[in-house]
Amino acid sequence: MADFEHILQLLDWHREPKGLYEPIGYTLAEGGKRLRPRLALMSAAMYGAEEQAVPVALALEIFHNFTLLHDDLMDKAPTRRGRPTVYLRWNENTAILSGDQMLIEAYKQLEKLPDYLLAKVLHIFSTMATEICEGQQRDMDFEDMEEVSADDYMLMIKQKTSVLLGAALEMGALVGGATEKDRHLLRQAGVELGLAFQIQDDILDTYGDPNTFGKAIGGDILQNKKTLLLITAQRQANDEQRTTLDKWLHADNFVQEDKINAVREIYNQTGAREICERCMADRTDNAIRLLKEVSADTNALQTLATTMLCRKS
Ligand code: IPE
Ligand code: IPE
Ligand code: MG
Ligand code: MG
Ligand code: MG
Repeated sequence: MADFEHILQLLDWHREPKGLYEPIGYTLAEGGKRLRPRLALMSAAMYGAEEQAVPVALALEIFHNFTLLHDDLMDKAPTRRGRPTVYLRWNENTAILSGDQMLIEAYKQLEKLPDYLLAKVLHIFSTMATEICEGQQRDMDFEDMEEVSADDYMLMIKQKTSVLLGAALEMGALVGGATEKDRHLLRQAGVELGLAFQIQDDILDTYGDPNTFGKAIGGDILQNKKTLLLITAQRQANDEQRTTLDKWLHADNFVQEDKINAVREIYNQTGAREICERCMADRTDNAIRLLKEVSADTNALQTLATTMLCRKS
């Protein structure tokens, strides 16, 4: 595997005006899992084209980090990768504008691709980016809704998270000259993997260790996010548990830890975590089944899919 971290760190963000570029360097400094570029490079490597996929890998990671700058502002999140989020360390306008510039920097990476790939890659990339905006809008709309169905949730996380993993695998394969059938299978596998990934992210947001997770624990509960944990707990709850959940969803003045502990307790009582973990494992199984149908050797991707199930960060 190309040393992606090294390639990423070679990008120079010491540019003027500093207020625009410093937060980009801060965000792209070491610390992320680099999952999306890894998927793109692994996919391209299956067809002998890892080096050619480097611009795609860079575009994906820069784009992903752009979404995080805006997402943290939207989610009022204080910490990411164990450090203050950009809108807190600088200010809200910085998170908006440096984020915008990162989106442009992502497209600039794609300019490096050969002409015969460009139109197709741009189409996949922009379609994916629009879906992420749609998913993020649904995520915010759901904050103010009393009840969200599991199907609505699955569509929301497919859009905000999964399509990016699907696009990573598909673009890597496209650069490698894979058949349309393989590309389709890889995209589908990436989407299934992404669903498992976001369900796991929801679980870690409530049950993770802040030292390894790098984000504040309980943020989703504080924001009334309609996570699969909450949707499952609402479905499983008895009358008393349901009343307690409703009380916390409508509470205005409270100590943050009290709300987090009370809602987590209902998740524990209703077995929501175990149900979500099963759902996550099912999605991973789907991904592996699809990967096995690909004509190239997907063993490394299958291993990655399995190890992601026990991630702590
Ligand atoms: C965070 O993505 C956003 C989600 C889709 C949950 P990652 O968990 O991949 O974040 P980093 O890049 O490794 O920090
Ligand atoms: C991630 O959703 C989706 C995007 C960033 C587009 P979350 O809001 O759950 O991600 P984290 O938990 O802040 O990383
Ligand atoms: Mg967030
Ligand atoms: Mg969010
Ligand atoms: Mg999250």
